[in-house]
Amino acid sequence: MDHKSLRLSEDYLARIQEILKKRNNGEGISDYDYCKKAVPESRIRDAQASLPDAGVSLRDCAILDGDSFEDTPSVKAIKDFILKPKETWCLVLAGQPGRGKSIAAAYWLKRLAYDWLVKRFEDGEESMGQRSIFTGQHWWSAQEVGRVSSHDAQLSILMNRDNLVIDDLGTEYLDTKGHTLHRLDEMITRRYSNYKRTVITTNLNMEGFQKRYGNRIFSRIGDGGVFHGVTNKSLRV
Ligand SMILES: Nc1ncnc2c1ncn2[C@@H]1O[C@H](COP(=O)(O)OP(=O)(O)OP(=O)(O)O)[C@@H](O)[C@H]1O
Ligand SMILES: [Mg+2]
Repeated sequence: MDHKSLRLSEDYLARIQEILKKRNNGEGISDYDYCKKAVPESRIRDAQASLPDAGVSLRDCAILDGDSFEDTPSVKAIKDFILKPKETWCLVLAGQPGRGKSIAAAYWLKRLAYDWLVKRFEDGEESMGQRSIFTGQHWWSAQEVGRVSSHDAQLSILMNRDNLVIDDLGTEYLDTKGHTLHRLDEMITRRYSNYKRTVITTNLNMEGFQKRYGNRIFSRIGDGGVFHGVTNKSLRV
């Protein structure tokens, strides 16, 4: 089978087995390491299971793991984003409904989980402690973000968590006094200042985004971050 057409988990299993092979001086997998085939497989299952715990919906997980998963323009934008230096702290996927923005954001978290796992094998630490890169919620709907109050410990999570997805920005309720906007400003400023990687999906276009969130937020996203317009046809069947 073409290596590229292998599903992500199989691809990673092959990479991990390469690492185990190298550990045995390239002599192939030793009996000991061969027995450890079960270990990579179970670690991959852990990585997979950690996605719903991080907040990715079961429907999105099923699409990520399904045979019809494809490299949509949004997935390509995520792949570019992964390769960018830390200064590129933010990616906004902006486009009409059903374009594959949320699935691409979920793919980003999946890649983080798997890349972390490969690194653990490379470092020979696969059996130690932590089972996944994710230790809490990394996927937040904008409505959830909008409900967090200034006195809530969750605000500090939103400001400081490495690798955060905010899905459907623009759907949260903005109160007339501007409290929600103020909290968003605080959160974006903190994340921008500390290179906290952030993927945002939204149905707003650049103009609508700027109008709703104002120049302070928009200019921080523009500084290093990428506002990516998604223009492909709807993928929703
Ligand atoms: N990479 C992909 N591979 C295969 N199917 C996909 C992919 N991305 C999206 N789809 C299909 O398109 C549907 C819509 O994708 P998604 O939920 O990511 O859209 P969206 O752009 O986030 O839309 P909205 O703005 O309404 O939230 C998915 O449920 C899935 O059926
Ligand atoms: Mg979506």
